[in-house]
Amino acid sequence: MARVLVTRRLPFPALDRLAAAHDVTLWEDDLPPAPERLRELVADAEGLLCLLTDRIDATLLDAAPKLRAIAVYAVGTDNVDHAVTRARGIPVGNTPGVLTDATADLAFALILAAARRLPEGERAVRAGEWRTWEPAGWLGLELSGATLGIVGAGRIGQAVARRAEGFGMTVITSRPTPLEELLESSDVVSLHVPLTDATRHLINADTLARMKPGAILVNTARGGVVDQVALAQALREGRLGAAALDVTDPEPLPPDDPLLDAPNLLVLPHVGSATHATRARMADMAVDNLLAGLAGEPMPHPA
Ligand code: DGY
Repeated sequence: MARVLVTRRLPFPALDRLAAAHDVTLWEDDLPPAPERLRELVADAEGLLCLLTDRIDATLLDAAPKLRAIAVYAVGTDNVDHAVTRARGIPVGNTPGVLTDATADLAFALILAAARRLPEGERAVRAGEWRTWEPAGWLGLELSGATLGIVGAGRIGQAVARRAEGFGMTVITSRPTPLEELLESSDVVSLHVPLTDATRHLINADTLARMKPGAILVNTARGGVVDQVALAQALREGRLGAAALDVTDPEPLPPDDPLLDAPNLLVLPHVGSATHATRARMADMAVDNLLAGLAGEPMPHPA
């Protein structure tokens, strides 16, 4: 029986399997432990089940000399310094595949919401600004016949492409289409790349300037892929038609962040995978990874 730290309550049956096999310490708070508290908590842990909100780096691992398996409750593992875990021989697992449809659904919901200006329409109804049916009121982009550029055609990007084809969109993807060409040709650009050194601020002042005037940017990947200062500027200048983001940098986005003053911006609190079924499956996979890692077996879903 190993000592295992779980850094947040996961209200799914999978945790019972973990608790039946190991001595589990659960961080009960609604908010993540501060880095210094996390360092104290991992001091005697052999296994760690963590969230994307926990930074797993050399400083943390120095405080966790017994750690021998890490399961991340997410597909994206940019919160982990993989060079450090590799150097220390600590296997890291993630939860690929099970959140593909949930995240693709959410990306498509954002595409529809931005294209048809749903937030503005809803606000207008509540503010008493809906006076009559207007021939030119709240006009948006018709998706049928429009071009969707998918940056990052992995599992989630491909699932968004399938949805877009059902809506009659033309789909182009960043493999094989070069990024500049994709940006210049797309009415809607949807981001599906992991956050790495190569993709940080991939969408910046230069790449935003390549987008079609009035185009829509959707991000369900990671906030750091977009330079938010440049994004706010492009929205304020009306060069970009709208942006719909499920992810920001930082998270949570402070309510006084200047980005929130930009027009035609829809922001959600990182809910791409937030369906009951998906989050339960993610818990199963994270527990499977940790059980295997602690048993000295290969993780079924190595990151
Ligand atoms: C992930 O898994 O990387 C998502 O961003 C959260 O589920």
